[in-house]
Amino acid sequence: MATALSQTQATDHSLGFTSLDEETALDSVPVRGELPAWLRGALVRVTPAQLDVADHWFDGLAMLNRFGFEDGRVSYASRFIRSRSWERRSDGRVAGGFGTDPCKGIFKRVQSLFSPEVTDNPNVNLARIGERYIAMTETPLPIEFDPDSLETVGPFEFGDGMRAHVTTAHPHHDPERDELVNYVARFSRTSEYVLYGLPAGSSERRVIARMPVKEPAYMHAFAMSERHLVLAEYPLRANPLKLALSGKAFIQNYEWRPEQGTRFQVFDRASGTHRGTFETEAFFCFHHVNAFDRDGSLVIDLVAFDDPSIIDALYLGERGPRGTLPPTELRRYELDLDGGGVSWSALPGGHNVELPRIDYSRRNGRDYGFAWFAGHGEGWIDRLVKVGVRDGTRLEWSAPGCFPGEPVFVRDPGAEAEDAGVILSVVLDAQAGDSFLLVLDAATLEELARADAPHHIPFGFHGQFLRG
Ligand SMILES: [Fe+2]
Repeated sequence: MATALSQTQATDHSLGFTSLDEETALDSVPVRGELPAWLRGALVRVTPAQLDVADHWFDGLAMLNRFGFEDGRVSYASRFIRSRSWERRSDGRVAGGFGTDPCKGIFKRVQSLFSPEVTDNPNVNLARIGERYIAMTETPLPIEFDPDSLETVGPFEFGDGMRAHVTTAHPHHDPERDELVNYVARFSRTSEYVLYGLPAGSSERRVIARMPVKEPAYMHAFAMSERHLVLAEYPLRANPLKLALSGKAFIQNYEWRPEQGTRFQVFDRASGTHRGTFETEAFFCFHHVNAFDRDGSLVIDLVAFDDPSIIDALYLGERGPRGTLPPTELRRYELDLDGGGVSWSALPGGHNVELPRIDYSRRNGRDYGFAWFAGHGEGWIDRLVKVGVRDGTRLEWSAPGCFPGEPVFVRDPGAEAEDAGVILSVVLDAQAGDSFLLVLDAATLEELARADAPHHIPFGFHGQFLRG
């Protein structure tokens, strides 16, 4: 009996990997419970919603989903992003993607960045730059959209002429300069990482630091403290010259070399100076949680995997990912900036969590108290988790047959406490066959309300709350 039940639970989440064809716009959807009166604005998320063109979850075609909050009503809309990749969907494949067999797409990706074969399918995350909104993937070809109508505006063209091949969909925001901060990797005979700032209202990137690299590491995100930028080079590296000719899917060109360890590359934000390379044992990571300067050291919190087997686990089969989610650990690395040593420990309460969020606008780059995550047990992501990073406390929300996505923290503008606010998460209700927006008290993880979407929403990665 117990076995049968766990098999049912393990397969229920497959609806979250089923394509959604509909584009929807509803002025109001049913709400159960009570929404806080201060909650005004919209949660906009990006989701790989058409999955039959992809071998890997990371290659589904991007759809925007929007839950709007106004006067106690919740509106809902969904719309595909009109990327070149979307327009070519009838080809039946996403060319030049992350893990999908490219049929020479990768050759073109490196050889001619501006080839139409390079993916511009921005299904990972979105960001605001001044008054403009962009959706992003890991090629530096963001697409601008209208956050109210979800209509595609068009490619966000950089005006600086810098050619690059890989970036992250996890830029930081520098509130003092009001600029987006990110890095790109440029692949060539002499490859390099370039850290840059993109000021609000501009399309020209300001170079903060450059660093030559023979074999670039795959990095999904990076860290920013008040004084430093940090690239964590996991030993998952590609030879750019081989990559250009391999004919393999992008990520399959990266080799795991644990004997090389992980290297933190630390840069001074103000001067761009390389502060040093800090080596530790090998691990893999998608998401940094936070980083901050403390006396002569730099503290870096991140979600660690022992190795990159998560990437292969997320190749798609008939009923969702082929593999199971490996264990993860919320870790704190401490870099001695003067002595060069690295120490680390697992933070209590931080096991089997991913998709971290914090009170970004007030706490990023600073010492902080709380992080929220999606968490998993033996099957797919099935709970939301709040971790007190100072005291090791752990709270969880879960419900039968429910599979939540990333928890987006929205702070209560009238309160001071770091965890005063709500958590918004799009949840698949496998038994009902559709999804709902869950609203939790961020401090206690008590349920405040649910707003029902008219259909299932395929599992997505990241989104942002845009205040009204
Ligand atoms: Fe991510």
